[in-house]
Amino acid sequence: MEALRVCWVLLGTLAAGSAQLLFENIPSVTMDACNTTVLIPCKVNNLIENNATKMFVKWKLQGKVFLSYDGVDNIFVRNRTFESASLNVPDLPSGNASLLLSKHEAIPGNYSCEVVEASREGQTLIELIYVSATWFRPVEHGVITAFIILGNILYWAQFGVVAKMYDMTFSKKIGLGIPGIIATGFAVIGCILFAADGYASGNQAGLGLIILPAVILVPLFYFLFTSVFEKQPLFAIILVVLKALGYVIAVVGFALCVSACRPKQSSVVIAGLVIIDIVAAIGLIYIIVLGFNLKDHQPPRKAVEESLNDAKGVMLE
Ligand SMILES: *[C@@H]1O[C@H](CO)[C@@H](O)[C@H](O)[C@H]1NC(C)=O
Ligand SMILES: *[C@@H]1O[C@H](CO)[C@@H](O)[C@H](O)[C@H]1NC(C)=O
Repeated sequence: MEALRVCWVLLGTLAAGSAQLLFENIPSVTMDACNTTVLIPCKVNNLIENNATKMFVKWKLQGKVFLSYDGVDNIFVRNRTFESASLNVPDLPSGNASLLLSKHEAIPGNYSCEVVEASREGQTLIELIYVSATWFRPVEHGVITAFIILGNILYWAQFGVVAKMYDMTFSKKIGLGIPGIIATGFAVIGCILFAADGYASGNQAGLGLIILPAVILVPLFYFLFTSVFEKQPLFAIILVVLKALGYVIAVVGFALCVSACRPKQSSVVIAGLVIIDIVAAIGLIYIIVLGFNLKDHQPPRKAVEESLNDAKGVMLE
């Protein structure tokens, strides 16, 4: 076949002069960890025959041929390390000789695409550049991290206010403090893991540790209120329910994002965290205002031991 090809080229050169194929100019394409297949474009603009059976295509990487297609016999020849390399034969007559590769075989570097159509030929160079993928955009990344940190700060502020204004017993401080430390610990580890770039199991786990243990903050929020009120006012119950709702939304967002290399639902995660934080902030203001009002009156505390036992019961479930 090589002989025939050379023959054609020579004949063509004699017949038509040294006709050149011209290509769409695409100097480079990029890929990242999210690409499963890679397409390296190669498009001829001035084919005349528009017939795949009169075409030859060669793809080279750093000057070495790894894929050739012989249109006369409709045969592909591949280098063993490029078994996935292919091109779409039905697209050839329109001048499209773009290369398809699986991501495992897509080595960054300078690819050249050589096309012969009867007597005419030409080649073009395309550089495949590897860029590291970012899972979330930096701003989303920052917002998620900031909101979980804020959520934890707000919890400790509530804890401090309740401890100071409503005379928390030592055992109650332990009962509310230890789960709080656990929640904050998870959030800190989560933020550190989540900070890594790219889409990998490390930062997926990080986001999980940011979102999932935040559930601890929901019952803690409720048990803080039990230190404030003997009977929970409707407003406090509503706040706890809203906080739980915010958590559920964040978890749904997490489930949608964790399996997507290019997550589109980061706003769901953020919305959940925002609700958690807003509710926590309202709760904080609420207990501060109540605390000041109650300073002159009898604090509506109920038996501290009883509520601590409630707390323990739920924590152990
Ligand atoms: C990688 O995937 C992106 C998004 O789907 C796409 O735009 C890009 O062309 C792909 N890169 C290559 C080299 O195929
Ligand atoms: C590809 O070619 C360009 C320009 O000639 C060069 O700057 C670049 O380093 C080459 N890339 C590789 C991976 O050899």
